[in-house]
Amino acid sequence: MPKYKTGYSSGSSSAKRTGSRPAPQAKKRRRRSKSYAAPYLALLVLVAVLAGAVFGLHRYLDGPPVQSEQTPPAGTGGSLDSKVEEGESTEIISDVNDETLLPEPPQYTEDGILMTNLENGAKMYERDGLTWLVIDGKEMLLCNKEYSLPADYGDGLTAECQAAFDQMAAAAEKDGLTIWIGSGFRSYDTQKAIHDNYISIYGEEYTKSMSAEPGHSEHQTGLAMDIAGAGGYYLEQEFENTAEFAWLSEHAAEYGFILRYQKDKSWATGYIYEPWHYRYVGVELAQLLWASGVTVEEYVGLAKPQE
Ligand code: DAL
Ligand code: ZN
Repeated sequence: MPKYKTGYSSGSSSAKRTGSRPAPQAKKRRRRSKSYAAPYLALLVLVAVLAGAVFGLHRYLDGPPVQSEQTPPAGTGGSLDSKVEEGESTEIISDVNDETLLPEPPQYTEDGILMTNLENGAKMYERDGLTWLVIDGKEMLLCNKEYSLPADYGDGLTAECQAAFDQMAAAAEKDGLTIWIGSGFRSYDTQKAIHDNYISIYGEEYTKSMSAEPGHSEHQTGLAMDIAGAGGYYLEQEFENTAEFAWLSEHAAEYGFILRYQKDKSWATGYIYEPWHYRYVGVELAQLLWASGVTVEEYVGLAKPQE
C-alpha cells in the first residue's frame, strides 16, 4: 500500500511543480499508472485475506496450541493455570477438566445385568445388595469403605475359605511355622460392637483408619481373617518382622489369599497397614493380584484419595 501511494503522489506533485494543467500525455500516463496500481492493491488485499483465512482455518482444525495439551511439569499448577494465562475462559476449562478427570465409567448390560467397565479389563456389577468385581473372568465379592454388605449377610467363614486356610497352615507347619486365625468371620453386629468400642477408646478419626464401619468389614464376607503366628505380635505392626509373615508373603497366594491392606497404600484402601489381614479370593486371582504388586482397588482403578 505505501508503495502504491508514493508512486501515485509523485505523478501528482510533478504536475504541481509545472504550475500548469497536466498535458494530455501526462494525464494519460497518470491514468495508466492508476490502472496498474488498482489490480496490485486488489491483489495485495486478496493475498492478505487469503493468508488470514488459511491461518484461521489452521488454528480451527488443529484445536488449542500444543503447549496447553501437554502435561504440565509438577508444581506448575496444571493445565487450568496455563490456559488461564493464555486468556481463555475458565468456564470452558472446567468443562474440559470434567471430561478428562472425572470420566463416567462406561456401562453396558450383560444378561440383563448392568456392568461397569473398570481398568485392566475388570468389570463390576451389583446384585441383591452385593457388589462383585470380575477380574480376568474371576469373580470377587467387593467390600471396602465405599461398597458394603447387607446387615444380614454372612454366617461364618465359607467352607472354601476355611479349607484353603487349613491347607496353607499345614504347608506352613511342614516348614516349621505355626499360623492360626486370630479373628475370622464377624457379623454386622459384632463389627459394630468392636468399632464402637474402638471409637470410645481412640476417637472417631483414628478408628476410621483401622476399623471398618459395620457393613463395610471384609470379615463379614466370610472370606477374610486376621492371621496370627506362634511368635506373637497379633494385630501388631511388628508381625511384619516375623518368620510367619515372611512365609505368608511368599506362599499365601498359592492358597488363594492376598494381603489386603498393604504398606503405604492407605491412600488406596482407606486403612492403615495390616500385615495380618488376609482375604481369600481363589488361587488364580490371588496369584494375578500378587504378581501385580498393587491393591485390588488400584488394579481395577477404584483407588482414590480418602477423605
Ligand atoms: N480392620 C479391618 C479394616 C476391619 O475392621 O475390617
Ligand atoms: Zn482383619
